[in-house]
Amino acid sequence: MRDLTSDTITGAVISTMRDTKNPRLAEILESLVRHLHAFVREVEPTEEEWAQGVDFLTRTGQMCTPTRQEFILLSDVLGVTMLVDALGNQRPAEATQNSVLGPYFREDRPQHTDGADISEGLPGTPLFFEGRVVNGEGVAVAGAAVDVWHSDADGHYDMEVPGQVDPAMRALFRTDETGHFGFRSIRPSSYPIPGDGPVGELMSATGRSLMRPAHVHLLIEAPGYQRVTTMLFPSDDAYLDTDPVFGVKESLLEAYDTYAPEDGPCRGLTDVPYTLLRHTFVLEPLATA
Ligand SMILES: [Fe+2]
Repeated sequence: MRDLTSDTITGAVISTMRDTKNPRLAEILESLVRHLHAFVREVEPTEEEWAQGVDFLTRTGQMCTPTRQEFILLSDVLGVTMLVDALGNQRPAEATQNSVLGPYFREDRPQHTDGADISEGLPGTPLFFEGRVVNGEGVAVAGAAVDVWHSDADGHYDMEVPGQVDPAMRALFRTDETGHFGFRSIRPSSYPIPGDGPVGELMSATGRSLMRPAHVHLLIEAPGYQRVTTMLFPSDDAYLDTDPVFGVKESLLEAYDTYAPEDGPCRGLTDVPYTLLRHTFVLEPLATA
């Protein structure tokens, strides 16, 4: 393995990995080397440009903290997150489709009972959420674990605002025997993805908008069914067609119906206008081996 050229170096690198025990790892690494080398052959970066690329990835890693995941954000804005999901979670159109998990899910969320107020007193338009989880035949899925989390009226999640109530606007629910779960909170707002790191530089250099359409995140798990990681967007949001993380799907648009306090299904529960969001989630069974 001497005197390697731009034509022979790819095969040489791959040959050094021929003793890889795990066949899937061998497949992944060989493909990675082939595609990375093909990228370099196509782009022919200067040494300075390559150093800039290394610096970009270095700073992306250095930006990461327990509450800031710049690499997930990079994957999101390059469409890789949604591509991995699209290839790995192909479901019939009538089943609830996935979207991005995003960086704001937290394991340390409180468990609440049906109808709880999860806003922790934060200001905003009251939001009532009525959800139902069913299978493909419309039969209720009882005991499903349903995580919800969303931003406040300014587009901030609980951990982003120093001094804010934390945790807030997030909770874990269990569906009842009719598949129902529900809660009260405040209406989330559209918000920019973090723009103060390397991903923000990339977005700025390419003239892309940082703004995500407003949404409520949900993660639904039930034994025997595929996990659903999804979100619901207002169907009239201004940013649906420029979502920087490519997470919008037509089936995930919902009317965020707003009512006067004396009108609608939740009349009398507030003294200000409120929003009612309703959605039925359809789970797809796990594939049987
Ligand atoms: Fe979000």
